[in-house]
Amino acid sequence: MTLAATLAAQESAQESAQESEQAPAPAVAPPPLVQVENLRVRIKTPDVDVTLLHGLNFSLNQGEVLCLVGESGSGKSITVRSLLRLLPPGAIVEGSIIVDGIDILALKPAQLRAVRGPLIAIAFQEPATSFDPAFTIGYQIAETVRAHEQVSWADATRRAQDLLELVQVPSAKRRLDAYPHELSGGLRQRAMIALALSCRPKLLIADEPTTALDATVQIQVLLLLRELQRELGMATVFVTHDVGVACEIADQVAVMYSGRFVEMGPIERIIDAPRHPYTAGLLGSVVTPDVPGARLEPIPGAPPDPTALPPGCSFEPRCRVARPACAQAMPAFTQIAPLHQVRCVLAASGAAMGDIEK
Ligand SMILES: Nc1ncnc2c1ncn2[C@@H]1O[C@H](COP(=O)(O)OP(=O)(O)OP(=O)(O)O)[C@@H](O)[C@H]1O
Ligand code: SF4
Ligand SMILES: [Mg+2]
Repeated sequence: MTLAATLAAQESAQESAQESEQAPAPAVAPPPLVQVENLRVRIKTPDVDVTLLHGLNFSLNQGEVLCLVGESGSGKSITVRSLLRLLPPGAIVEGSIIVDGIDILALKPAQLRAVRGPLIAIAFQEPATSFDPAFTIGYQIAETVRAHEQVSWADATRRAQDLLELVQVPSAKRRLDAYPHELSGGLRQRAMIALALSCRPKLLIADEPTTALDATVQIQVLLLLRELQRELGMATVFVTHDVGVACEIADQVAVMYSGRFVEMGPIERIIDAPRHPYTAGLLGSVVTPDVPGARLEPIPGAPPDPTALPPGCSFEPRCRVARPACAQAMPAFTQIAPLHQVRCVLAASGAAMGDIEK
């Protein structure tokens, strides 16, 4: 290198060093805790060959709550169970599921068992699926703690009691010795949440955890879940068919229909300005206590059989504002605002649902 070139290189290095001293490096946002890309699930057995999820994409940050909303059979449980690979026999999963940097679909069975609990935990709709009727609640929570952490029985039992207190089970010490059938539905549900929290998961999945409860207990458990989620900073994927429940707990909402997301966005936008006719239909069929006497508008018809989906938009046979184009091809998922995406040919028009229906 000539002297001039050397000096020029030194000058340029000096300048860039000065620049980097002057301008602080831009803050790099941490990657999302959960990153799901093009998730597809197909069930293939000698008796059945059906695709249940058709390429889902979503991400979730630490401390955020995503609610999956949709009618029965839309694929909500299959979606959340995919995150733990708790799928029916014959399931073929494609795409990518990364949780806290771990590639869930690449894990071997022993590795998968190790992440169930401390990384991802699930609370089911029916506590009977979580608790063994032959053992006490305290034993089962303590046993789960000991399966993942090197602690004594005494310490694990103390943790079980702390957890029952955390989920506001009255007389927690005494309930440690109760069998699942000795608790009321609401207390069993709280104990199941304690079990799910026992290994301090980073991601909590709650698959309709309040559906089997009566309305008063349901709201108590929901408020408790929201409080715990904030206190513990967990990311949560919450499944419900009830938009009212989603309003209580969600940051983001993904509306599911026939194994696809049809609308996704922040809860306020989904409630105030739904842009997919199915979302509008779900909202129209919810009782609103603020508007006494308001008429409920059920969505006509039923979701299609997943083995015989229509060629175009899956909602087309039930859609009140369908156009001829809707039956031709499945609309793409279109970004209509930051974080708000919709899968409908009308979404690009920018019209609100009310205008479309006139
Ligand atoms: N093992 C299986 N073989 C074939 N189809 C299945 C299997 N398990 C589920 N399905 C189908 O997958 C679809 C989605 O089921 P999923 O349980 O995810 O629905 P969901 O949205 O959770 O409904 P719900 O609100 O009733 O719990 C349904 O049509 C269901 O019949
Ligand atoms: S694409 Fe067409 S049929 Fe589907 S929801 Fe939109 S308007 Fe209705
Ligand atoms: Mg389900």
